[in-house]
Amino acid sequence: MTMFNRFMFGGDWNPEQWPEDTWEHDIRLLEDAHINEATINVFSWALLQPDEQTYDFSMLDRIVDLLVRHGFAIVLATGTAAIPAWMARDYPQVMRTGIDGTHQVFGGRHNFCPTSPDFRRFARALASRVAERYAGTPGLEAWHVNNEYGNGGGYCYCDLCAQAFRGWLERKYGSVEELNRAWCMNFWSHTIHDWNEIVPPVTYSDAIGTDKCVISGLQIDYRRFQNEQMLDCFRLERDAIREHDAHTPVTTNLMGVFKDLDYYSWGREMDVVSWDNYPGMDTEPSFTAMCHDLMRGVGGGKPFMLMEQTPNQQNWFPYCKVKKPGEVAKLSWQAVAHGADTVQFFQLKQSIGGCERFHGAVIGHDDSERSRTYREVRALGADLERRASALMGSRVYGQVAVVFDWENYWSLEGCVGPTQGLHYPDEVHRFYRPFWRRNVPVDMVESTVDLATLKQYRAVVAPTLILVKPGVAQTLTQYVREGGTLITGYMSGIHNEFELVVEGGYPGPLRELCGVWIEEIDAIAPDAHIDVTIGGRTVRGSIVASIIEPEGAQTIAIYGGGDFYAGTPAATVHTVGEGRVVFIGTALDAEGMGAVIDPVIDACGAETVDSPEGVEVIRRTADDGTVFTTVINTADRSVQWPHALGGEDLDLAPFETRIM
Ligand code: GLA
Ligand code: ZN
Repeated sequence: MTMFNRFMFGGDWNPEQWPEDTWEHDIRLLEDAHINEATINVFSWALLQPDEQTYDFSMLDRIVDLLVRHGFAIVLATGTAAIPAWMARDYPQVMRTGIDGTHQVFGGRHNFCPTSPDFRRFARALASRVAERYAGTPGLEAWHVNNEYGNGGGYCYCDLCAQAFRGWLERKYGSVEELNRAWCMNFWSHTIHDWNEIVPPVTYSDAIGTDKCVISGLQIDYRRFQNEQMLDCFRLERDAIREHDAHTPVTTNLMGVFKDLDYYSWGREMDVVSWDNYPGMDTEPSFTAMCHDLMRGVGGGKPFMLMEQTPNQQNWFPYCKVKKPGEVAKLSWQAVAHGADTVQFFQLKQSIGGCERFHGAVIGHDDSERSRTYREVRALGADLERRASALMGSRVYGQVAVVFDWENYWSLEGCVGPTQGLHYPDEVHRFYRPFWRRNVPVDMVESTVDLATLKQYRAVVAPTLILVKPGVAQTLTQYVREGGTLITGYMSGIHNEFELVVEGGYPGPLRELCGVWIEEIDAIAPDAHIDVTIGGRTVRGSIVASIIEPEGAQTIAIYGGGDFYAGTPAATVHTVGEGRVVFIGTALDAEGMGAVIDPVIDACGAETVDSPEGVEVIRRTADDGTVFTTVINTADRSVQWPHALGGEDLDLAPFETRIM
């Protein structure tokens, strides 16, 4: 089942930045490039509402009319992502206060206080008016609420937020005694005696570094609270739209592994997940694949929208590489192969002013069809027109589940010690990559996924599962007992949901299941590594080394090197009931992860496809059983694949995609 009436190929268009007599010309160029969709009104609040009393939809009417005349699909934004000047002036509390206490003034975007009743009131009113006016517009395919919640602005630390946080805590903990216990507040004299003594986690000490907090329970609860406040803002705009339009899907654009919002909680509130894919020059294709799988998982497995990607370079990395010939097409097809039902860009026409004027766009500063970017987009558009519609609505079915859990993200990266070297998405990717390399389809899940869901998978992978929420250890244990395979490892099983260490030795609630006791966790310097021998091979571990004492588990890898724990287990496997648990003690390199995980893939019966290095194979299956197998050469070199997929030889050009 697909949500949309056509395969949308388009993206953000901001015609309000140009004289109106240029619009027709732009539309013609876009049509020639097979573009059939425009996302509009993302940042138009100041034009739509020049002052508190006045609304003016005349320009937006003309933009919409033009698109309707040209038969474009429309993704219509509510326009609430950047605050107009009058509001910042007359209602300063709508502006966000940063972690350093700086109260923002007018300018920028994504910088509203999510608690501010004035912001909420004005945003709801605008969303409601936009929806009332444009509901039923021919070609309207989706509503786009706000934009990239949380991007750039960080959380808000203002007095309104502090006040609301106190109420939130009171409802959660009931008494200050309970809160003091849950947060271990007798540490460094943090004990409180009154709710009013609570302040948001803005006080850092140099000794522990930035983005770390003396009281981890406070930090993680503030993250949970801010996530809910932002999500409330999304909900209130969504509900305002729903009063005028009962059916058109409502979305907001997410950002893959963005840290500050728990996207699973967002996915549950959205009709369709959309996201913005901006790989940097060093991003591995497997990492991008993981992000797509994550966004699909956040949406409950349904197809998603690729709301934004650049048709050439970004402008906001420190160094912005241009995309190579064919690379944008490759990224687009990779998204489709992983479940995208749209391919959209930021943006359709390149700004001449503002800080994004060096950001790639379909129509560049040359304003013509001659640029390489334009020509590649046009070729891609023709190709998508021919081949992509058939895939719409079909699903990717994972055989293995990889846990990606935002509270784990916060918990792992919030630790002061034993190392600063752990970045959660990279650690999840380290465990994901061996599956990607063998083309085992992966579904990303949150840690609280239920047993019935887990049982659909040949294996469950839970990297750095540091924070074990109530019920999770029991579910995983049951899954393994009944024949499942679990892969986990270093930094798992340490905290409960309050960020308190579970007493009795690591990995705490997972200790019995893993059959190991982690007595110590050694940190490895950034430029160092530790040798690990596995099956006669020597590979490398990094970041941390768990010193493992087996309690029923068998050793499958051993530390080398000169340290006192050389010769002790670096990885183990434990048989539990009908299943087994693999525990990996150190962050192994790609070869090492493969050496541990490849035999597990073979043993658990997941389907694999052996493809040449860099060639990705992924399937989408339609409701009627039709299977689309996409083969993507993710690399900038040609590849020969003899007897590809058991059939004929394949000669793949650099970045080429085939669909079988
Ligand atoms: C984000 C935003 C867009 C634009 C792009 C530039 O994705 O949503 O408005 O700023 O970044 O890459
Ligand atoms: Zn605030």
